[in-house]
Amino acid sequence: MKKKVVLTGDRPTGPLHLGHYVGSLANRVYLQDVYKQYVLIADMQALTDNYEHPDKVRQNVLEVVLDYLAVGLDPKKTTFFIQSQIPQIAELAVIYLNLVTINRLRRNPTVKNEIAQKGYGENVTAGFLMYPVHQAADITIVKGSVIPVGADQLPMIEQTNEIVRSFNHIYHTDILVESEPLISSTPRLPGIDGGEKMGKSLGNAIFLSDSSDVIVKKVMSMYTDPNHVHVNDPGKVEGNVVFTYLDIFDQNKDEVQELKEQYQRGGLGDVKLKKRLIEVLESFLLPIRLRREEFAKDKAEVMKILFDGSAQTVQVASETMREVHAVMKLDYFD
Ligand code: TRP
Repeated sequence: MKKKVVLTGDRPTGPLHLGHYVGSLANRVYLQDVYKQYVLIADMQALTDNYEHPDKVRQNVLEVVLDYLAVGLDPKKTTFFIQSQIPQIAELAVIYLNLVTINRLRRNPTVKNEIAQKGYGENVTAGFLMYPVHQAADITIVKGSVIPVGADQLPMIEQTNEIVRSFNHIYHTDILVESEPLISSTPRLPGIDGGEKMGKSLGNAIFLSDSSDVIVKKVMSMYTDPNHVHVNDPGKVEGNVVFTYLDIFDQNKDEVQELKEQYQRGGLGDVKLKKRLIEVLESFLLPIRLRREEFAKDKAEVMKILFDGSAQTVQVASETMREVHAVMKLDYFD
């Protein structure tokens, strides 16, 4: 049987945070041993709402790839590529545009949210509105079939599969493959402020590259239970971000259970609780930080990883486009 193909990626608009880790990076680290895995750095997608800030996008390509290497994605097992360096993706996206209506794009819930958040309204650019089509091209150009993502990406995969079915039907072919999302057991990590989702632009994120000092500050400012004023007051565990994080990152589940009971009874102070989380996060992040620093010393090597991965992806992409051209009668000179 043919090996499944995994594809995911991130927009390079800032360093990656713990939300990315639990939502999809952790899955990618194990998937690289099981399947053929591609990880793309979606610089073209980042430009759809940062077209005036090319420097920011360019700088963050390196940040994001350093984060990938730091968490243990291995360039010998995972193919990294830069979206803009695969022109076939842009070509395929234009082909797909014929198969998608503007109304369908406007109804994509994730895009709809973003348009509201950014206040674009009726002035949304064509580039931004069509980015899910571009994403469908990212996935199908390498025939990705497993997509490890956070919950907010489900509408993208649904839309990709609609395009795949429509293409195969119209051109009487089966060259394109449908994909399935792989959602993690913790698809959404709350922000340190207690907000539903951790996000860089929400200002409530802990980055994989944060220093020890910053971790201390962020955990100390974490949202707990606003009614837990004195150590002896009974406290709430539900919605208490410190406990949410301990549940995910603390290996000692029995002790966490005891802490919860003590907190609910009263007698466990927030500071003591937070100190434990600081230790837990520090031991998780320290090896990641060290590996990141190591790779950051050799930028040329990191660029070579991206160059080689992009070159390899261009090969695979050309093969897919040859098939696409054939079924669409565009193979004039083949
Ligand atoms: N849309 C994703 C994000 O906002 C990034 C992305 C681009 C992606 N292309 C992809 C994810 C293909 C999975 C598959 O983070």
